[in-house]
Amino acid sequence: IRDGAEAASSYVAHYIIERIKHFNPTPAHPFVLGLPTGSSPLGVYRILVEKYKAGEISFENVITFNMDEYIGIPRDHPESYHSFMWKNFFSHVNIHPNNVNILNGNAPNLEAECIGYENKIKAAGGIDLFLAGIGEDGHIAFNEPGSSLASRTRVKTLAYDTILANSRFFGNDLDRVPKMALTVGVQTVLEAREVVVIILGARKALALQRCIEQGVNHMWTLSSLQLHPHPMIVCDEDATLEL
Ligand code: GLP
Repeated sequence: IRDGAEAASSYVAHYIIERIKHFNPTPAHPFVLGLPTGSSPLGVYRILVEKYKAGEISFENVITFNMDEYIGIPRDHPESYHSFMWKNFFSHVNIHPNNVNILNGNAPNLEAECIGYENKIKAAGGIDLFLAGIGEDGHIAFNEPGSSLASRTRVKTLAYDTILANSRFFGNDLDRVPKMALTVGVQTVLEAREVVVIILGARKALALQRCIEQGVNHMWTLSSLQLHPHPMIVCDEDATLEL
């Protein structure tokens, strides 16, 4: 628990940097990093970029896999997760474009896209560290309430609450918000060797309480983290209001 969003973001960014450095990645043995979108990780990305520019970390031998992507908006739409990641992170660091993996929500065969993504993660040796945020309903990636805890990468219909929460990025117009997405599954996240979740603000307080103080259940999919051998939640004071 850190005092505020800045301190929590700084903790996570430094933690990731230490992990990558300690791993000492090479082209033959790259560090595999899972990444989220949303406002919560923005501070982390900003600090990682600053540290890269200061020469304190290199992403040369880092491979990334993003958690999710909308279906039904073009890849270059300003609110696609593809655009988000390049704008806020990838364009500012020395990651090789071939090492960036983001689900393609416009793939002609979405099922094949999901199977291919799982295979790519496997071929990369699995995910070393998955960074995540959560939705107000406790979802991780787009694993909405009711998602199987054994789920893998797949097509998901977004919950009304998620569509409502995301409408702020689409001019508050519900009609413009994508209703479906591709997302890694709960199991895909749980298979990462380490999972770090950043949770900021009072909006997320109920979700944090449900996910860590109640039992593992498929209505608050972050609660699955209780089953993980190496999880960490980093939050600010406001997010702890219901604990
Ligand atoms: C979306 C993403 C989640 C993210 C959530 C929270 O639902 N699919 O991965 O955790 O938004 O976003 P924010 O951090 O903006 O509250």
